[in-house]
Amino acid sequence: MCGIVGYIGPRPAVPILVEGLQKLEYRGYDSAGIALIEDNHLRIYKKVGKLTNLKEKLAGNYFYGTVGIGHTRWATHGRPSDTNAHPHRDCQGRFAVVHNGIIENYLPIKEWLLSRGHQFTSETDTEVLAHLLEEFYEGDLLATVRQMIRKIEGSYAMVILCLDEPGRLVAVRQDSPLIVGLGEGENFLASDIPALLCHTRRTYILADGEMAVLTADSVEVYDSQGQPVEKPVYEVKWEAAQAEKGGYDHFMLKEIHEQPVALRDTLSGRLSPDNQSVNLDLSLSEDEVRQFNKIFITACGTAYHAGVVGKYVMEKLAGLPVEVDIASEFRYRDPFVDQRTLVIVVSQSGETADTLAALREAKRRGAHVLAVTNVVDSSVAREADDVLYTWAGPEIAVASTKAYTTQLVAMYLIALYLAEKRNKKSLVERVAIISELRKLADKARVILENGRVIQDFVAAYKHVPSTFFIGRGLDYAVALEGALKLKEISYIHAEAYAAGELKHGTLALITGGVPVIALVTQQSLFEKMLSNIKEVKAREATVLALAMDGEADLAKVVDHVLHIPRTHELLTPVLSVIPLQLLAYHMAVARGCDVDQPRNLAKSVTVE
Ligand code: G6P
Repeated sequence: MCGIVGYIGPRPAVPILVEGLQKLEYRGYDSAGIALIEDNHLRIYKKVGKLTNLKEKLAGNYFYGTVGIGHTRWATHGRPSDTNAHPHRDCQGRFAVVHNGIIENYLPIKEWLLSRGHQFTSETDTEVLAHLLEEFYEGDLLATVRQMIRKIEGSYAMVILCLDEPGRLVAVRQDSPLIVGLGEGENFLASDIPALLCHTRRTYILADGEMAVLTADSVEVYDSQGQPVEKPVYEVKWEAAQAEKGGYDHFMLKEIHEQPVALRDTLSGRLSPDNQSVNLDLSLSEDEVRQFNKIFITACGTAYHAGVVGKYVMEKLAGLPVEVDIASEFRYRDPFVDQRTLVIVVSQSGETADTLAALREAKRRGAHVLAVTNVVDSSVAREADDVLYTWAGPEIAVASTKAYTTQLVAMYLIALYLAEKRNKKSLVERVAIISELRKLADKARVILENGRVIQDFVAAYKHVPSTFFIGRGLDYAVALEGALKLKEISYIHAEAYAAGELKHGTLALITGGVPVIALVTQQSLFEKMLSNIKEVKAREATVLALAMDGEADLAKVVDHVLHIPRTHELLTPVLSVIPLQLLAYHMAVARGCDVDQPRNLAKSVTVE
């Protein structure tokens, strides 16, 4: 949700800033802008729409300024427009600010600044920052930023450029990510690592309240009390190429195809060679694990859907009651959480504002918090009591795919860990699941190699306005994710329903030719699903069924069948979601949609 970059060094800043923004465009693409110092002037260029519009505006000009900041926006306060685009400046053009987050108390501050004679040009919350700096500045940018921070409430990662101090950039973060890239005679700032990787692998990951002062030759970091901090250098291990499309038309397609490797990496080192146990490196003692009387899983979006699968699996394997809740609901509903609750927060980015707030609420209530996240040292990882990393590698497409399937693996690992430590389920049963877990990567590969049925289905139904996804048990959990994928990138209305619930209202929407995607992977519920399929067929729906290999009879009842390799009934979600991801992808392509950057969305949502 908004990407910010900064550069200071000997090279012209503009190409570096623009390249960095390109890597962060997944965070928002409502507008883009840069600011730099040239000829003793603060120059700001910004344009509504995608970065390519800004590039067009900059084309044909030579910029030699060697210090600058940039921003790509996901609009919150103020519609997408040139004037609301960042960077924002003060009245005299001495300060430029880029910001990711929300200044919650901007309205009273704005009124106060207006009463002091400041003139505003945008509708954004961010603009108050530039005017506050102008109001307080007495020759020391660092001191002024500290003074400003005391006035504001909310979340922010920001970078500030000051005409009077052209040799330094000041950056500060609270609840939004910000990373310093350490170069040789040059330094960088960015919301996320991919924007830094073509320049350096050496980084400082700023923590909440920390402030960084960058010159070309130095980086100083201070804590919220103004004390210098000795930051450890975090050396990025993955390759820049991992954040490139690598020959695929879209990041989403690449990431779908990366799932076999991501699944294998996430399991790697965590299963004992004899398949009898899992090792998660948690801080919990056996006694503590036995003390838990309840699990809460909380997350947003796709990560929440992984939690829904987690609920089914943990209840079955660990024998504990599990509640799963959307993070933005969890924190405001006074949840029954105490010292005997294990709270699992799931977040690809580890920076989602609602998830982070839910984590803090759970900790405040005394729960033990286990984070499942894909980003090392993210806020969620830092603040949780324990972390289980999904090793999916960078996920760039807004629609989450490999993060989801690796989150599912994390759910299985936790469930198996709890089952083992709490003596639930027999060894034989656990060994059977673990040995099947090991085979998932190869089975995922098989699905990826057989995408023909999906493409045919897409060609026939790409113009439908509405679709329904139905399933029971774990199939219902996956139906939720399948429907979300389809609607978010192809803009086809898609609704997921527990198949048995359809007849209580939604069946009224099933008419001739309406596509119903029916998930039928749960053997124990097979007959019940068949009845529900017949109910929609009786209303002349077109049914695409998704089942495990060997269910030959289904073809007699439905219009199209997609098969996935057979696996343990509890593990089917990892495989059954893949055809649904491909379905959404090919639908979006066939309909000419912007697959990687769907309208109105952003990958990392750092505002509530
Ligand atoms: C956004 C993304 C989704 C993601 C959700 C939660 O809405 O578009 O793909 O599932 O945020 O993100 P997180 O990083 O917490 O998993």
